Amino acid sequence: MEITKEERDAVYKTIYTRRDTRSEFLNEDIEEEVINRLLDAAHHSPSVGFMQPWDFVVVKDKKIRQKIKEGFEIAHQEAALLFKDEKQKEYKKLKLEGITEAAIGICVTCDRSRSGEVVLGRTANKEMDLYSSVCAVQTLWLAARAENLGLGWVSIIHHDTLKDILNIPKEIDVIAYLCIGKVSYFHDKPELEEKGWLKRMPLEQIVHYDTWDKQSLSTQNINTKSL
Ligand SMILES: Cc1cc2nc3c(=O)[nH]c(=O)nc-3n(C[C@H](O)[C@H](O)[C@H](O)COP(=O)(O)O)c2cc1C
Repeated sequence: MEITKEERDAVYKTIYTRRDTRSEFLNEDIEEEVINRLLDAAHHSPSVGFMQPWDFVVVKDKKIRQKIKEGFEIAHQEAALLFKDEKQKEYKKLKLEGITEAAIGICVTCDRSRSGEVVLGRTANKEMDLYSSVCAVQTLWLAARAENLGLGWVSIIHHDTLKDILNIPKEIDVIAYLCIGKVSYFHDKPELEEKGWLKRMPLEQIVHYDTWDKQSLSTQNINTKSL
C-alpha cells in the first residue's frame, strides 16, 4: 500500500511535534474509543520473534494514581541529591510528571517468558524483548500525538513501587509509566531544551558512515527540523 505525500507529511508532523507532556494536562476525560485506538496501535508495534511481550495496565483510579505520585516524590528527592550545586537547583525547579493531572496512566510491561525460552531473534542479545516493549511505548506516544493527546513518560519512580501499587507479578518487568491526557498546548521544543538543561545535538555529530571514525560533513546538508 502506497503512502501518499499528504499521509507522509502527517507522519513527519506527528514525529516532529510529539512532546513529553507534564504540565499542560486538562481536566478532561479521554473517550474510551480513543484509548482503545492507542492500545491497539501499541499492540501493532514490532517485537522480537513476534513475541509481543507487552501488557498495558490502564490506570484511571485517582487514589491509585495518588500512590504512584507518592512513589515518584520519593525517587525524585533521591534524584535531586545526585546533582550538584546549580544543577541541583535547576533540577528541583523542573516539573517532571503529570501523574494526577493526566486523564489516565498506562503502565507498559514486558513478560520476558512469553512465547517460551528460546525466542527467534533474542538469542545473541537477551535484551531484545525489553526493546520490543519500548517500541510499543514509542508507538503509543506517536499515536497519542496523532490524537492530539499529550503523553509524559515518568521514569523517576522505582519499578518495584509501581509493581506493588499495580499488583504486577514479580516475573513481569515494568518498562514505562505513561501519563496521557488532553492538553492546552504542545511545547514547540523539548521543555528541557527550553529551560536550558540540554540542547538538541547537531545531526552531523551523531551520524557515522561505514565506520565509527568516519563522520562526513555531507550530513550538514541534511535538512534538520529544528522547530
Ligand atoms: C526513557 C525515557 C524516560 C523519561 N523519563 C522522564 C521523566 O521521568 N520525567 C520527565 O519529565 N520526562 C521524562 N522523559 C522525557 C524526556 O525528558 C524528553 O523526551 C526529552 O526531554 C525530549 O523532549 P520531547 O520528548 O518533548 O521531545 C523520559 C523520556 C524517555 C525516552
